[in-house]
Amino acid sequence: MSGTQERKPDSDQRDAIERAKQHFGDLLVEQLARVEAMKAAEDWIDYTQVQPIIIGIVGGDGIGPMICHHAERILQFLLQDDVKAGLVELRAIEGLTIENRVKAMQTIPDEVLAEIKKCHVILKGPTTTPKKGDPWPNLESANVAMRRELDLFANVRPVKIPDQGIDWTFFRENTEGAYVLGSQGLDVTDDLAVDFKVITTPGAERIIRLAFDYAKKNDLNKVTVVTKANVVKATDGKFLEVAAAVAKEYPEVEWDDWFIDIMTAKLVDPYRRTSFRVVVLPNLYGDIITDEAAQFQGGVGTAGSANIGKRYAMFEPIHGSAPRMVQEGRAAYADPSSNIRATAMLLRHIGFDEKASRLEMALDICSLYEKKLAVTGRSNGASGAAFADYIMETVQDPNLQQRWQSYNG
Ligand code: IPM
Ligand code: MG
Repeated sequence: MSGTQERKPDSDQRDAIERAKQHFGDLLVEQLARVEAMKAAEDWIDYTQVQPIIIGIVGGDGIGPMICHHAERILQFLLQDDVKAGLVELRAIEGLTIENRVKAMQTIPDEVLAEIKKCHVILKGPTTTPKKGDPWPNLESANVAMRRELDLFANVRPVKIPDQGIDWTFFRENTEGAYVLGSQGLDVTDDLAVDFKVITTPGAERIIRLAFDYAKKNDLNKVTVVTKANVVKATDGKFLEVAAAVAKEYPEVEWDDWFIDIMTAKLVDPYRRTSFRVVVLPNLYGDIITDEAAQFQGGVGTAGSANIGKRYAMFEPIHGSAPRMVQEGRAAYADPSSNIRATAMLLRHIGFDEKASRLEMALDICSLYEKKLAVTGRSNGASGAAFADYIMETVQDPNLQQRWQSYNG
C-alpha cells in the first residue's frame, strides 16, 4: 500500500494474528449456523391459539422499575377482564438487574432467561448497559442479548407528530449489524482494536420484507432504505441489494434509498421529512436515527418500541436506564410515556386492537394534544406517577373517541 512502510510482523504480532484468525474463524462458524437456523425458521406464532397469553414484566434498572410499573398498572387495568377469564396472565420476572447480572457474571442470568422463555411476550423497562471504565464489569448489553436469545429481529419504532405531518415507522434490524458481535471484537494487540459488522441475506431479507409488508398492509406506499453502501460496501451493500430484490415483489410500494448521513440531515428538513413513512435500516443506524426522530416528538421519553420475532416479542422504551436522572434524584420525574407507548404496541401485537387503540388515543391526547400536564424530567414538571394517572383517567373516559377526534379534524 502506498505510504505505508513495509514491515514484517514480529513474532509477538504473528502470535496475535494467529489468535485473531482463530477467533474470527470461530465467529464465522457461529454466524453460518445462525444463517442456517434463519433459513429453517418456524412460522409466526398465532396468539389466537394460545391460552393464556403470558406477559412477563421485567422492570430493569435505573428509572426502569418506576416507569415500567406505571405501564404495568395501565396494562392490568385494561386487561382485568381477560385476566379473570384466563385468557391472559401477567407475570413478574425478577432478577434482570445490573447487580444480579454482575453477581452471576452473565448478561442475562440463566434462571432469568429460563423464566423469560416461559412467557410469550415481555413488557420491559430499560436496563443498564455497561461500557469500558464503568464501575461494572464490561458485560454485554442485556437488550442486545435478549434480542439475540429470543431472535427478535425487528425493532419497530413509530414517531408521530400530526400537526407537522410527521408519521414515521422505523424498522430497525435488531439481531445483526454492528451489534451481533459487539462484545466479541478484538484487542488484537495493545494498539489495534477490531470490531465486526455482520449482514446476512436471510437476516436482511426478513426485516426488509416486514417493512414492505407493513407499508402494503397500511397503504403507505413508501419505503425508504437507509445504508452507507457507498463506503461500507460488503455489509451495507448486501442490505441494499437484498432491498432491491425484495422491492420487486411489491410493485405497488414505491421505494427509495438514502445514505445515513444525508438521511439524518433530511429528518431535520421540514420540507423533505414529511415524505418519509416507512424506513428500514441496519441496526446501528436505526439506533441512532430513532433517537433523533423521537426528539422531534418530545424526546426519547415519549417513544416506545416493539422488538418482534416469530415466537417471542418484547416491548420497551427506546431509551436507556438514565442513571444520571437517578443520581440527580430526578427518577420520579421520568416520563413513563415511552413504556406506556410500548404497552399499546404490545396490546396490538397480541390481538387486543381495540384496547391498543384506546391507549394510543389516550397517549395522544395527554402527550400531544391536550397536554394538561407536562413531564419535563425535572421537579418543575409533573411526576411520572401523576402523568400515568392522567393517562389512566383519559383511557377510562367514555367519550375518549370523540375527544381524540376533536383534535383530528
Ligand atoms: C436502544 C438502546 C440500546 C441499543 C442500548 C441501551 C443497548 O439505545 O434500544 O436503542 O443500543 O439498542
Ligand atoms: Mg438507542
